Parts: sequence; structure tokens; C-alpha cells
Amino acid sequence: MNKYKQDFFLPQGTYLLNHSVGCLPCQTAREKEDFFNLWKCQGGEAWDKWLLSINEFGQSLASLLNGSSEEFCPQTNISSAVSKILLSLPRRQSREKLIISEMDFPSIGFIMGQMERLGYKLKIIPSECGTFSLERWKEYLTEDTQLVFITHVIYGNSFMNPVREIVEYAKKQGIFTLVDIAQSVGVVPINLRAWNADFVVGSSIKWLCGGPGAGFLWANTEAISQFCPLDVGWFSHENPFEFDIANFRYSNTAKRFWGGTPSVIPFVIAKSSIDMINHIGVEKIRTHNQYLTETLIQTALANNLTVKTPISPPRRGGTVAIDFKKPQQVFESFKQENIFIDMRPGFGLRFSPHIYNDYEEIKKVSTLLKTHN
Ligand SMILES: Cc1ncc(COP(=O)(O)O)c(C=O)c1O
Repeated sequence: MNKYKQDFFLPQGTYLLNHSVGCLPCQTAREKEDFFNLWKCQGGEAWDKWLLSINEFGQSLASLLNGSSEEFCPQTNISSAVSKILLSLPRRQSREKLIISEMDFPSIGFIMGQMERLGYKLKIIPSECGTFSLERWKEYLTEDTQLVFITHVIYGNSFMNPVREIVEYAKKQGIFTLVDIAQSVGVVPINLRAWNADFVVGSSIKWLCGGPGAGFLWANTEAISQFCPLDVGWFSHENPFEFDIANFRYSNTAKRFWGGTPSVIPFVIAKSSIDMINHIGVEKIRTHNQYLTETLIQTALANNLTVKTPISPPRRGGTVAIDFKKPQQVFESFKQENIFIDMRPGFGLRFSPHIYNDYEEIKKVSTLLKTHN
């Protein structure tokens, strides 16, 4: 049996929804009790420890992603982090374009669209049959661009963009860069230093198994002083405990993107899960995931099914998307077998194995796939 199964609470059946919500690690479930005990015994004096826990969340991310803890700022979710970043950009004459791709998560288009009210123009890069070549990106990264939004791994088909190369090219044109790692963090090794983007945003809910509410924003120390968020609060201040209403000064770290009194428990929970993922090792998770997804892809291809995910391992994240003529019907048949998957319009069914899934489960899925060719 897969030795990691005992370390997580796994719903009964075959759980392949890790692109949506990762399963709860057993060690993480205990953290909630510590949080309540601290509150029970110390009331408001628990704040010192609570703030320390949030700081530890940043430290855990720093070791996972090769960053430093002060470059991380806790956020409720990615959507809100992106809004804060956009509203912090310095206005630069004749740079009115914001670039996204048509395969980014819908929230991103919704937020960027709002920016047209402030005079920006949104440009959406069309895909090349579900992928984007570096050449395609370069075509759009023109000198009138203010910022480019790059999704590392696409939510629908798991295509992986060449982030480092896009960032490098964009920077040469003086374009600000913002990377979304929602679908890659925890399953694809990431080195923030090597990318050297201006911003990276992510959440803990998916492959990190850290639950909802623990998003984060990473801001490059080299660039931070140029960005002045509109959405601030006392925790964005250089010294939150100064209490002078007439004197706001931005924190000189990523914490300028923080806001008012922070929530605590999502970060306590997520920190413990991130430690677990760090302990297992993302390289190991990636290797295991690729072995299982390769099995699914080869089964699907051998049975003439439509694989929406890139076949080439370095070009794909942790999910396999397979489309069918009648996806709803196929989805129902998987559900009846207690196989946890979901469906996205245009992409078909999404299958995402984590470290706690094993070959036996994937064989079961493959057998069912064969009946739908
Ligand atoms: C690639 C990607 N970006 C962003 C989001 C949305 O993030 P949030 O709900 O934290 O705003 C998702 C959600 O699935 C996603 O897959």
C-alpha cells in the first residue's frame, strides 16, 4: 500500500480532485486544537504567538519556493491579491496595456476588465490549440504594455507556460510581471529566484493540502518600492503600532500589501500542510504524479480518447484533462464508482493524482476509461 495514505484523511473512493482541494494531512488536523487552546488560555495575549504563526507560514513558503519570508504577504485568495497588485502599479505614460491569456482562470479576466475603468486596455492572448509558444507571448509583449499576467499551469488542460523565458523577455521591454502558481505550487518544483518576476501569487488549497483562506503574494524585494497599494490597513504600515492617523508609511517589505487585522487560523493550518509537503519533497511528488498521469494519458491515447493536456511531460502540470462526446454521462459513471473528479467546459474531465494516490487506483480509472472509447 502507498505509505502516504495513512498521513492524510482521504474520502472513501479514489480521490483525484487535487487541482481543486488537496486532502487534509493528519498532522494539520491537530493544529486547530493548538489555536483554540491558545485563545482559551490567553485571550488577546495570544496575538504574539498568532503573529508568529503567520510569520512561520511565510518561512515555510520561503523554503518551498526558494524565497525569503519577508517577501511573502498573506492574502485571503488569489483574486484579491491580484486586485491589490494592480492598484499598486505606478502610472507610466504610454503603457496602458494589461496582458492576460484566454486560458487564465476567469477571475483574472474579471479583475483586469475592471481596470479599464482606470484607463487601462485589456489584451487577451488567444491560445494555439490550448498552448502558448514563447513566440506567441513575445508578439504581445510590446513597449506599450504595463503588466503581463502569466499562469504557470493552466487550470483547464494543465499546460505549463515557460515562465522564466517569458519573464526574462518581458523585463527587457520594461514590462511588470505577475505569475499565478495556483495550479503548480506543491506539484511542480518552483524556484522564485530563478524566475525573478515582480510578483507571484498562489493559494494553499490545492496541491499544498492547506485548506481555503491561506493565499499569498510574493513581491520581489528589488522592485517593491515602486508599488504602492491603494488597499491598505494598519498592518501595511512600516510600524503597525505607531498609531498616528495622519502618518501612513508603507512597510518596506511585501507586508505593504497586507491590510487590517489578519485572519490567523487558515495560515496556521496551511503552514503545517506546507511543512508536510516540504518534508515529502515536491520533486518526489512531481515524479510520482508524472508516473500516474503518464499511465492515464497512454490509456486514453490507446483508446482514441481526446487528451486535452499536453503529452510532453515538461509542458504539463499535475492534471490530465480528457474530453468525451458526452462528458456528463462519463462523469456520472465515474461518480458511481466513487472516483472523485470534475468537469470543465471545453476541457472535459480532470484527473489529478497526488502523492497519496497509487497505481492500483489509476488502473481502476484506466479500466473505466476504456469502456468510454
Ligand atoms: C490557475 C488559477 N488561478 C486562480 C484561481 C482562483 O484563485 P482564488 O479563488 O484564490 O482567487 C484558480 C482556482 O482554481 C486557479 O486554478
